[in-house]
Amino acid sequence: MKIGPLELSGNIIMPAIAGYTDIGMRALAYRFGAALAFTEMISAKGLVYGSAHTEALLATSDFEPIKCVQLFGSEPEFIYRAVKHEQLQKFDLIDLNFGCPVPKIVSNGDGSALLKDIPRLKEVVAAAVEAAAPRPVTAKMRLGFRLGELVSPLAARAAEEAGAKAVTVHGRTREEYYSGKVDLIGIRETKNAVSIPVFANGDIVDRASLFETAYVTGADGFAVARGAIGRPYIFRELSGERVSPDIPALIKEHFDMLSNVYPDGVAVDMMKKHIAAYAKGARGGKAVKLKAFAAKSKEDIFAAADMLRGDTVA
Ligand SMILES: Cc1cc2nc3c(=O)[nH]c(=O)nc-3n(C[C@H](O)[C@H](O)[C@H](O)COP(=O)(O)O)c2cc1C
Repeated sequence: MKIGPLELSGNIIMPAIAGYTDIGMRALAYRFGAALAFTEMISAKGLVYGSAHTEALLATSDFEPIKCVQLFGSEPEFIYRAVKHEQLQKFDLIDLNFGCPVPKIVSNGDGSALLKDIPRLKEVVAAAVEAAAPRPVTAKMRLGFRLGELVSPLAARAAEEAGAKAVTVHGRTREEYYSGKVDLIGIRETKNAVSIPVFANGDIVDRASLFETAYVTGADGFAVARGAIGRPYIFRELSGERVSPDIPALIKEHFDMLSNVYPDGVAVDMMKKHIAAYAKGARGGKAVKLKAFAAKSKEDIFAAADMLRGDTVA
């Protein structure tokens, strides 16, 4: 499967997950077979104004064969300048966020708010496409803003017309947040509205949900977000392989990849929520979480990781 000039190794990707898809999680996702892995969402304005927090999110490594960044913003000029920014030149693919439901983002007109203004969404995509060329631009969106509405076929077509090379559709509206069940028919209608590849997204956690999503939507590819938190090996499982991951080793590697680019204290804090996720469902998981949340050093993180030794994480 191709996205613009990029040849993908498969069709299951890890989309942006704020607070999670850091440099370590992306490397692990790629190792276990994700075809693409995206940075957390990055503010186009924050980048243009030189925010240190924004720049910290842009660290990448050689373990990412295709470097993918996600930007959010609703002003074409800032999107253009962000994509042209020196720090974005190492990225092979630029994704635009038209799905974030968080009030702080939506009240600025960003994220899923753009589903209420398709002409602007189109201008944002066009600005990114112009600035990114020849690198491909993709768009990630929800079905619509309000409950029951289906805007994504229009939005996806607008994105395609503006030059986007693929679209990811989360089968919920903004109003639904993460509640209820994903609407696969809405994703199918979006898929049928465009000729660029469409990645179906929402509630894929195992082979059964993957097959159901594939069958109903007819999508070209699939995006797995929450199912990959604490389970980066899900990408291998989805391919049908049985996996028995060494969880403590994964946690330590994940930490080491963070501490290569962040001060140890920052890496320790970043790792806490990951450990909580790695420990989910494990025997003694609660004690591991408590240990992780109290961690102050690399040694504490490794000790928490070792508490998961011998456990078979289901
Ligand atoms: C904690 C959290 C953070 C997220 N951050 C982003 C983000 O930065 N950009 C984005 O496009 N989507 C973001 N999403 C949405 C996911 O990428 C995905 O569309 C959604 O979770 C549905 O897929 P899933 O059921 O596989 O999790 C986030 C979701 C969660 C739960």
